[in-house]
Amino acid sequence: MFDTNNKVIDESRQGEALVIDKTTGEKKLFLESYGCAMNFSDSEIVASILTGKGYSTTSDYEEADLILINTCAIRENAEQRVRGRLRDFSSLKRKNPSLMIGVMGCMAERLKEKLLEEEKLVDIVVGPDAYRDLPSLIETVEGGQKAVNVLLSREETYADISPVRLGTNGVTAFISIMRGCDNMCSFCVVPFTRGRERSRDPESIVREALQLFENGYREVTLLGQNVDSYKFEIRNPKSEIQEVVSFANLMERVALVSPELRIRFSTSNPGDMTDDVLYTIAKYENICDYVHLPVQSGNNEILERMNRGYTREWYLNRIEAIREIIPGCGISTDIITGFCGETDEQFADTVSMMEEVKYEFAYMFKYSERPGTLAQRKYTDDVSEEIKQRRLAEIISLQQKHSSIKVKEGLGKVHRVLIEGISKKSKEMFSGRNTQNTTVVFPKENFRKGQYVDVLATDCTIATLIGKVVSEEFAHS
Ligand code: SAH
Ligand code: F3S
Repeated sequence: MFDTNNKVIDESRQGEALVIDKTTGEKKLFLESYGCAMNFSDSEIVASILTGKGYSTTSDYEEADLILINTCAIRENAEQRVRGRLRDFSSLKRKNPSLMIGVMGCMAERLKEKLLEEEKLVDIVVGPDAYRDLPSLIETVEGGQKAVNVLLSREETYADISPVRLGTNGVTAFISIMRGCDNMCSFCVVPFTRGRERSRDPESIVREALQLFENGYREVTLLGQNVDSYKFEIRNPKSEIQEVVSFANLMERVALVSPELRIRFSTSNPGDMTDDVLYTIAKYENICDYVHLPVQSGNNEILERMNRGYTREWYLNRIEAIREIIPGCGISTDIITGFCGETDEQFADTVSMMEEVKYEFAYMFKYSERPGTLAQRKYTDDVSEEIKQRRLAEIISLQQKHSSIKVKEGLGKVHRVLIEGISKKSKEMFSGRNTQNTTVVFPKENFRKGQYVDVLATDCTIATLIGKVVSEEFAHS
């Protein structure tokens, strides 16, 4: 959970509290983000667009001229939180009628004009592909009207916009490599809120990675809803296709920016993950040995109903390929409990899948029906809340057991760690992650943030390795 200036409150995955970058400008923007890493990355694009228009960011919403909430629609509770937050802002609006409040992101796209009626204090509704239009939407509101732009685009990738890094630790950053999703998993609202899939020009991605590296960053996470289907056609001046860049090619290009720049990515889709991506990970030391491979369910009928496009057997074959090509690779997943019609036996297949794979980590959710999705139109949300909850509790406790077994496997071993900052638990300790994405903490001594160190793990908690530095790497940098 990012919970600083320009907050990101995570409803789906990832996140931790980070420090703030200030931008300068006369008018003050308070930007709060909910949801996935992609939303966080979008907020950085919005900050960049508005910094160019005389805004500076603030961590105090009471002094803001403009409040923007970057919203998530993935599950109903994500939307409830945003509605609650909007209510918090209503008293501010009474005190300061010129304050503008905007809703951006997936909820804006899902609810469109309805948001203006439902939440009377909202002035601006702007969807994920319309952020370039924000300055003109603001002008419309200044002229006394409400403003909406929720047009989705087939081309927009914001490739030319250099994001203003918000809430950054100065070491790790997200780079958005594609937008939208064409997969149409039946439970998922993303294809409706983020539109068609499109890939960003690889040259602009490499440029962004290089710029980050030059500014001291040492890790980039390449973001997309389904990174394995990244595809960019480079054309010559005659508009003929010169080269088709795949995700594996792209990773390679980014890996070549510097051996000191770590690469991570999110998210792979089991149906599309090819061996060439795995071989590229194995080939480059600086591409982390970590794959997030959402399974959702271990049962074939449920997978079919989810329209995931793979079977349990196919998924396990992908896990086998990961283990074979990248020995010791960290693997995490996403799981949904209580999808339409899920029986006890079908749920048991999810449990046995977890037993079989033994994930390092899992993000687990109760199914939440989303209006307009295929599942909502085709199936009945017939698993009771109580059963969804009971199944969720069961897999959470199983996952805790697996995570702790996995963490213990790291004991007595030396882990290459990129130092990200001070540990949350102790000011005397630094914290970072090993290549498999496990957090490692160790005494600070004279090491620096952004440096690579080799840590011998001697102890652990449920999810964290604790150790001591045995040697430094890239000490010249
Ligand atoms: N491909 C995307 C998925 C984004 S949504 C990505 O990983 O980048 C993240 C996770 O939220 C999904 O993998 C799924 O497990 C969960 N999720 C999506 N829709 C959901 C719903 N309607 N109810 C419960 N969980 C859901
Ligand atoms: Fe959603 Fe499936 Fe795409 S989970 S984001 S429709 S890959």
